[in-house]
Amino acid sequence: MPQESYAAPLTVASFFSGIGGFDLGFERADYKLAMQCEIDKYCTQILAKHWPEVKRFDDIKSLSSADVPVSDVWVGGFPCQDVSVARMGPRAGLRGRRSGLFYDFARLVGECRPRVLVIENVTGLLSSHSGRDFQIVIRTLAELGYGVGWRVLNSRYFGVPQSRQRVFIVGCYRDGTGPAEVLFEPERRGRHVAARRQDGEAVVSPFKKSLGDPVEGPVVPGIAYCLYACSARHTGTDWSRTYAVYPKTGRVRRLMPTECEAIQGFPKDWTLPSDPPQDVERVDTLRYTALGNAVTVPVAEWLADRIKPVLARLRKEQPRANSVNGHGPVNGLATLWSPANAVANQGEAGLLVR
Ligand SMILES: C[S@@+](CC[C@H](N)C(=O)[O-])C[C@H]1O[C@@H](n2cnc3c(N)ncnc32)[C@H](O)[C@@H]1O
Repeated sequence: MPQESYAAPLTVASFFSGIGGFDLGFERADYKLAMQCEIDKYCTQILAKHWPEVKRFDDIKSLSSADVPVSDVWVGGFPCQDVSVARMGPRAGLRGRRSGLFYDFARLVGECRPRVLVIENVTGLLSSHSGRDFQIVIRTLAELGYGVGWRVLNSRYFGVPQSRQRVFIVGCYRDGTGPAEVLFEPERRGRHVAARRQDGEAVVSPFKKSLGDPVEGPVVPGIAYCLYACSARHTGTDWSRTYAVYPKTGRVRRLMPTECEAIQGFPKDWTLPSDPPQDVERVDTLRYTALGNAVTVPVAEWLADRIKPVLARLRKEQPRANSVNGHGPVNGLATLWSPANAVANQGEAGLLVR
């Protein structure tokens, strides 16, 4: 097999692709999308609309390592329903049918050993089963040979007006420094953030600020609540929805799907099927659900950019000329990598200590 060229395009394989939040973010950072894996019919339609040429698979359970094109980075946010606190009840965690799909992802990682992994999930993953589920995720990756780090990132700091906290886990194959290089910036801001603007006005929290025409409307909050997967109908959990208000008429409405696309960083009408069904409420429900599940695109793009220098280094340090099927070497890990003190704590950010 020829030696890999360092100049070869960076490639990314997408698992649990949804409507492609990771995929679009990585593409914007100049990665080439090698494949997608998504079981939901509506989401698959949206993926096909934007990436007609990309190889797509449905159920991760029936995916074999031979199906997966060799890719520098694997991204995936496995289903969160069994670890999410939004469920308000006992959480099945990784034993659940949906969140347990993590093990299928891990099986493929074990067989292919991509250089870099990025996993996204709700912050409920940190607390599910008193942290044991998160520990399993980190340990599993460590035992497969990955240096691992994680950080809770909030979309509101990435240029979109939505407060959305998600945990991002980065794994680098046989590399303990890569995750920190990706997730943590060495720069820091000064300690004292100004309490007043230059013109002397007090700084108002974006949560207290409203934007829009105060008479005609629509008036919307400066920062939207976190979008969640929901239907187009009102369901009784409306307290956590963001509303647009029309003061003159007293009318109030929820955000429209196109507005939800904007606050997730997607282009307008990204989630509109090419051939939409007649039933508008049904289409809107599909759009709200998929957007509520999606990764915020600029967060994915930020990670994709920060992974680039790490990949450049790993391509030099770990050439893959002699690997199995072009994937990473699959044997002899245990002696090379010992995840001794995996998961020192389960705070909002951390690194696996070797
Ligand atoms: C949290 S969402 C990921 C959203 C995605 N990151 C995005 O930006 O839109 C999890 C996705 O996993 C998909 N999924 C569930 N079971 C699956 C399976 N067995 N195989 C492949 N995908 C599956 C769901 O349909 C859902 O779209």
